[in-house]
Amino acid sequence: MELQGAVALVTGASSGIGAATALALAAKGAKVGLAARRTGRLQELQQKINEMGGESLIITMDIVSKDSVQKGMDHLIDAFGKIDILVNNAGIMLVSDVERLKTEEWERMIDVNIKGVLNVTASALTHLMKQQSGHIINISSIAGRKLFKGYSVYCATKHAVSAFSDILRMEIAPSHNIRVTSIQPGAVETELSQHTTDEKYKAGMQANRGHMTFLAPAEIANSIIFVLEAPNHVDVSELFILPADQAW
Ligand SMILES: NC(=O)c1ccc[n+]([C@@H]2O[C@H](COP(=O)([O-])OP(=O)(O)OC[C@H]3O[C@@H](n4cnc5c(N)ncnc54)[C@H](OP(=O)(O)O)[C@@H]3O)[C@@H](O)[C@H]2O)c1
Repeated sequence: MELQGAVALVTGASSGIGAATALALAAKGAKVGLAARRTGRLQELQQKINEMGGESLIITMDIVSKDSVQKGMDHLIDAFGKIDILVNNAGIMLVSDVERLKTEEWERMIDVNIKGVLNVTASALTHLMKQQSGHIINISSIAGRKLFKGYSVYCATKHAVSAFSDILRMEIAPSHNIRVTSIQPGAVETELSQHTTDEKYKAGMQANRGHMTFLAPAEIANSIIFVLEAPNHVDVSELFILPADQAW
């Protein structure tokens, strides 16, 4: 896809991989909807995009709420007239052993990582199917391919994202000319692990930093640009991208 002038919506644009992806898209000349709940962080990102001469729109959105998603999508379409690219990036990771029964955290991960992705996808598909073109990028994870003790519900949500992505690709790529890609990163240096409340796993994730070089969010953003810029007849359906020294 030609990114100059394309319209993208990036969820979870307020930090980490989402912010880096929004910047990379804006640098390529795309108009970018910056969606997340922390509007202040989106304003800082918009400032950076403005300084680069790029174009963006702040969309305060909670992807768990269908109403918030619909309002955000309407705002994007009103401002830019269309959507070509959806980057379903927003997600949370709350790690603990099942026996600790942190059921509220399980539900939150299911709400954001699964239902949130479905809410935003449905709202974008209405426009993409009419247009008969576009690209949906879903940020799954190594946890959407492999299993790790302590990551039971996170792995379940990311396996759901990987499964949904591939079936979505089978259904809508041939009939609607909409490409679908699941990006599956290993360890990336972001805020993701900070929300885990279990001290054992928090310490374990911190210790990982001592024996591998986490990827930078911009390295995932670059891989997303690579996938988007592939010729229209090429669908990179999955991209598994890890630190070279990640041994699991
Ligand atoms: N970091 C890694 O090692 C890694 C590896 C594999 C996959 N991933 C995946 O990459 C994606 C991005 O994560 P990250 O690593 O960049 O972490 P991050 O810095 O914590 O970013 C997560 C983003 O999700 C947004 N978000 C959370 N709940 C939301 C909601 N209800 N509505 C809208 N936005 C919401 C947050 O924004 P607000 O709080 O402002 O709403 C934030 O911008 C996630 O799907 C994650 O699972 C990360």
